[in-house]
Amino acid sequence: MVTDAELFAAAEAVRAKAYAPYSKFQVGTAILADDGKVYVGCNVENAAYPIGNCAEPSAIAAMLAGGGKRIKRVYTTGPGAMPVTPCGGCRQRLREFADQDVVIISHGIDGAPLHQTLAQLLPHSFGPEFLGK
Ligand code: THU
Repeated sequence: MVTDAELFAAAEAVRAKAYAPYSKFQVGTAILADDGKVYVGCNVENAAYPIGNCAEPSAIAAMLAGGGKRIKRVYTTGPGAMPVTPCGGCRQRLREFADQDVVIISHGIDGAPLHQTLAQLLPHSFGPEFLGK
């Protein structure tokens, strides 16, 4: 049983390793996967700004590399008081590996965590089943 406090701690630990020299906005994501393990990722920026990576796809890549297949819960942390919610592209990336009722927790660490389901973040979304997968 992995608690939200443990997911928060994992997100914060990886956030400290984020490579964000341009935005100075370090983000960490912890994913609880279907294998019961926690996988983490941070944002990775680049001097060629548009090719920078968000924390969420980094965590998804770690999940797949580690043997996890499906996302069961997500916890993202970042600076400030506003909940650090996933960008539009990341909502779709999470959607590929998560069911509609999966809870995504967005937390700007100077404020309160926001709990939302994937369906709330990305209503009426397109996904693998449209392609028979
Ligand atoms: N960022 C994330 O990694 N995840 C989010 O959920 C929001 C934004 C990153 C992208 C960029 O490196 C920095 O935060 C500022 O946008």
